[in-house]
Amino acid sequence: MPASVAALRTEVLDFEPYAAGLSIEEIRERYGLESVIKLASNENPLGVAPLVQKRLKTAAGLAFRYPKPDTPRLRKAIACRMGVDQSRVVAGNGSDEIIDILIRVRAVPGRDNVLAFKPCFSMYKIQSKFLGVEFRQVPVEADFTYDLDKLAERVDENTALVFVTSPDNPSGFAPKAAELEAFARSLPPACLFVVDEAYMDFAEPEEAYSIRNLLDELDNLVILRTFSKAYGLAGMRLGYGLMHPDLADYLMRVRLPFSVNILAEEAGIAAIEDTCFYEATLQAVRSGRERLAAELTAMGCVPKPTQANFLMFTLPEACSLSAKDVFEKLLERGIIIRPLGSYGLPDSLRVSIGNEHENHAFLRGLREVLEEARA
Ligand SMILES: Cc1ncc(COP(=O)(O)O)c(C=O)c1O
Repeated sequence: MPASVAALRTEVLDFEPYAAGLSIEEIRERYGLESVIKLASNENPLGVAPLVQKRLKTAAGLAFRYPKPDTPRLRKAIACRMGVDQSRVVAGNGSDEIIDILIRVRAVPGRDNVLAFKPCFSMYKIQSKFLGVEFRQVPVEADFTYDLDKLAERVDENTALVFVTSPDNPSGFAPKAAELEAFARSLPPACLFVVDEAYMDFAEPEEAYSIRNLLDELDNLVILRTFSKAYGLAGMRLGYGLMHPDLADYLMRVRLPFSVNILAEEAGIAAIEDTCFYEATLQAVRSGRERLAAELTAMGCVPKPTQANFLMFTLPEACSLSAKDVFEKLLERGIIIRPLGSYGLPDSLRVSIGNEHENHAFLRGLREVLEEARA
């Protein structure tokens, strides 16, 4: 390694990158398959909203222009949809970008810490470590519920941010809004409480779980949302944070000015307008997850209760195959799901709720794999 590279910051040399779900192309090539089904990254089961597709075609000719730095039209549309003032909205290149900037604007390396449950969405840890900030974790309970008192015990005067994912990834668990509210009120006012609601659209009913109505009351509360799931725009990279207007102002000053591109802005606005597609998505996910849970249970698997657009499960006790074996045998059949070894859960698997055809193919594939193992 040249000296110029060996001299990079230790946080870079030791960096463990984000492990993304496998792609359809990779598996098609590896196994010479014609059709591959991907249920690994919790994407939208219905694809891209019709209005988004139409608007993107019209907007394609604008791609040579720079977007407006603070994406005012999109922020206005989000503000209307979420019932908040536009000054509270910061849009980003996926909610990943908002997670990254929040840590960078608030946490001082060598002094502060960031706190979350274990397991949790890996980006909180990855970006904290990259910045050289201590990352603390409190294990979730054996049934994957949250003990928020235990989390509160680990907060000290140097806790800069607490991340709580609701509904959780990878388990699908969502704490009740009242519990989150009590925890939020117990935090020191200077500590940012970031509730990552990437999957909140799918919770039923949403009001029982989301605390976004507390934004006016709690200055340190940040709510994260994404267009990657219920709005079907994972590839466009669009997410946002709702927060105190002063905090939003600082975030917008420091972020790279054009991280939300001009087509993503158009797509986001159209996705909010296409309420039919949004409702159809919720319907497909809510009915699909019920069916998957019932069929997995009938096969002897143990699915966890979920409020998200995915489902975590373990295999039947008597199964001679490991979760990783089952994952690989499904891959050979052209079905990509997610093994959870990287989350520290080697016995669990996570499957996104797909459309009817995808759910059916997954269940058929899994049934075959389990029957083969029994034979
Ligand atoms: C809990 C959670 N937060 C945030 C994200 C990132 O979303 P985005 O695509 O908006 O960056 C994901 C993506 O899977 C997620 O699971």
